Amino acid sequence: MTSPAAVRVRDNDCMPTPASPLQIGPHTVQPPVVLAPMAGITNAPFRRLCREFSGGKGLFVSEMITTRALVERNDKTMQLITFHASEQPRSIQLYGVDPATVGKAVRMIAEEGLADHIDLNFGCPVPKVTRKGGGSALPYKRNLLRAILREAVAGAGGLPVTMKMRKGIDDDHLTYLDAGRIAVEEGVTAIALHGRTTAQHYGGTADWDAIARLKEHVPEIPVLGNGDIWSAEDALRMVRATGCDGVVVGRGCLGRPWLFADLVAAFEGRTERVRPTLREVADVMVRHATLLGEWIGDESRGVVDFRKHVAWYLKGFSVGSEMRRRLAVTSSLQELRAGLDELDLDQPWPAGADGPRGRTSGTNRVVLPDGWLNDPYDCAGVGEDAELDTSGG
Ligand SMILES: Cc1cc2nc3c(=O)[nH]c(=O)nc-3n(C[C@H](O)[C@H](O)[C@H](O)COP(=O)(O)O)c2cc1C
Repeated sequence: MTSPAAVRVRDNDCMPTPASPLQIGPHTVQPPVVLAPMAGITNAPFRRLCREFSGGKGLFVSEMITTRALVERNDKTMQLITFHASEQPRSIQLYGVDPATVGKAVRMIAEEGLADHIDLNFGCPVPKVTRKGGGSALPYKRNLLRAILREAVAGAGGLPVTMKMRKGIDDDHLTYLDAGRIAVEEGVTAIALHGRTTAQHYGGTADWDAIARLKEHVPEIPVLGNGDIWSAEDALRMVRATGCDGVVVGRGCLGRPWLFADLVAAFEGRTERVRPTLREVADVMVRHATLLGEWIGDESRGVVDFRKHVAWYLKGFSVGSEMRRRLAVTSSLQELRAGLDELDLDQPWPAGADGPRGRTSGTNRVVLPDGWLNDPYDCAGVGEDAELDTSGG
């Protein structure tokens, strides 16, 4: 793979921030940049690509693993929690609704040395999960949240436990400040806040003021800001605007793993930014698909899994709809490479391709269990079927 081209940005876009190293338990994350967990995306191959571009700096979190599937040692789940040897520290994100099952899953990870850091996901907005009180609906039940965090921290045997959440269910039912306080009381190491409510899904803009408010509310532990970081400059702006201790970057690196090179450069006060030509992008695409095939143990399945990334990588390039379609249905590396080679590979990085990508859909009605909002402090539990079929945060 050739090394993608770099350009320079204006000096005032990359002033080093005063951010001190981010400490996640024993792990120093410097610069304080974190790859957001993304179901179906942040598997070992994608984390590895991002890490290569960052020069090994930063923290790269696995896609969400459901605790019940983990304790049952489901085959697919055991595959999902594999790490490449270069991944240090190893971060696993767990999603669970039952304190006892979460405790068991965390204990399994700690006792079997399966990871070095555990993140808990309370941000999933998917209706089929919130309908049962799971995902981002769960923190509304303060006692249940507390019980899950308590079991997780107790089971972790010294591994740092962090949590990731949204602002709340909607603007009338915000939960993040209470959840932050509970997290501190239960020994959680750091909190990441996605500045949206469940109702917002991925629509509108992330509320960075909420990140600032959480930072003030829980000065005891690091607060990581998440939402709408599309460039390294956005990341610096978020740190300046909110005082957060680090940034979590999700959709911005879809089809753009080199964003991590930019993030590291910006936090280190350097001006160069990666702006690959289509030829360089094509090389990264083939490498990504190759890594997926190696990880799955089957080239063709790797290329099929890679299909979802194609449109993100090609965003803004002049490719033509027919070729876009063709590249999104390839089944072998040879077919993928041959298709890419038909393109005008000398195209420079397109203006505007740095902007939003991935899900951006707007407001939805939040589906909750009957009576869910009546009492934030009742001791309701959530059926374990709220664990099934979840797809992210
Ligand atoms: C495809 C996709 C999958 C996601 N899966 C997860 C997940 O497994 N766990 C989680 O906590 N958040 C998940 N998220 C949410 C992201 O981690 C992040 O909070 C969100 O995208 C906002 O950050 P961004 O604006 O940088 O993308 C997912 C988001 C997307 C787009």
